[in-house]
Amino acid sequence: MLNVAILGASGYTGAELLRLLLNHPKVAIRALTAERHAGKPYAQVFPQFAMLDLPDLQKIDTLDWSGIDFVFCALPHGTTQPIIAALPSHVRVVDLSADFRLETPEAYEAVYGAPHEQPALLKDAVYGLSEIEREAISKARLVANPGCYPTGAQLPLIPLLAKDLIDADSLIIDSKSGATGAGRSPKEGLLFCEVSDGIHAYGIGTHRHGPEIDQGLSKAAGRDLRVRFTPHLMPMSRGILSTIYVTMKPGVGLHDLRQALESRYEGEAFVHVLADGQAPQTRHVRGTNHVLISLHPDRNANQAILVSAEDNLVKGASGQAIQNMNIMMGYQETLGLTLTAQFP
Ligand SMILES: NC(=O)c1ccc[n+]([C@@H]2O[C@H](COP(=O)([O-])OP(=O)(O)OC[C@H]3O[C@@H](n4cnc5c(N)ncnc54)[C@H](OP(=O)(O)O)[C@@H]3O)[C@@H](O)[C@H]2O)c1
Repeated sequence: MLNVAILGASGYTGAELLRLLLNHPKVAIRALTAERHAGKPYAQVFPQFAMLDLPDLQKIDTLDWSGIDFVFCALPHGTTQPIIAALPSHVRVVDLSADFRLETPEAYEAVYGAPHEQPALLKDAVYGLSEIEREAISKARLVANPGCYPTGAQLPLIPLLAKDLIDADSLIIDSKSGATGAGRSPKEGLLFCEVSDGIHAYGIGTHRHGPEIDQGLSKAAGRDLRVRFTPHLMPMSRGILSTIYVTMKPGVGLHDLRQALESRYEGEAFVHVLADGQAPQTRHVRGTNHVLISLHPDRNANQAILVSAEDNLVKGASGQAIQNMNIMMGYQETLGLTLTAQFP
């Protein structure tokens, strides 16, 4: 068995890691950490796990690493760099935070406003968009799990940019997320009265996931590009729906976009292109590691609209983290992840 520790187990992605890993045949949960909740039985924080025999929550600095092979680091961004740097070298890591996603210390500082504390580790980290970086992930010691919005935005666009089918300067990504995307720690903007009965855009023109999306799409396009990306907060607990507007290159039609996506994701367990006339909803992927993508003609003949749906806590975080662990460990990629949506 693979002995696993979840750092940040009292948060939303930590709890989702646990929920999924309980169905993983090769994983044993050895340690669960917390900050405010350290010292409590796990079921005191999350009663849905009351029937299970789980380790109590403890502070990270009290962990005995000798029995741990693999770590999921589900901590707030900005906190993980010294923690990952201090891990014993035999431990492999998937970091769900943003600390190792941007490839250079300069890019990190420009977005997160502080110098990167571990530039050598950053250099070795592999960006964990599973379907795109599988080979590099399989050899990595440290995988930087992608952001939730960047997962739903990049998977539809990378194959189209790689085949030069769309204008790289015309991309508009309009995304809507459930409130779990902001984590479980109390924040005024996440009070019921602020989230229910309405929607709002936030981080308009400045959201930290914009540069992460740029990084992946620039690689696919072979040149630097900047997307226009606006996230919105929806009155729902989980899910991300992204509506993506593209301009097709001269001579390219919707069928070419479909062919590129279908051939790129043929045989993939978690990325699916829907039939003509269908559009995904967040409830179609709720609780699952699947991403559904649809393609639509626009009234303007040279333009097209793509829609992607994912669960921010699963393919957007903990599910993709487990998919990456499976790739790193040479396990079947779907282990622990063979769930379909809880619908309706
Ligand atoms: N939520 C999403 O949809 C999503 C998607 C993709 C990526 N992510 C990223 O994944 C990470 C975790 O997100 P989350 O939504 O699970 O956050 P969360 O619900 O706020 O949980 C954060 C966890 O980290 C612990 N923690 C907080 N400060 C700490 C510190 N200084 N030292 C050690 N532990 C500390 C918390 O413990 P206590 O609660 O006990 O204080 C809690 O267990 C973040 O970096 C986030 O950006 C989240």
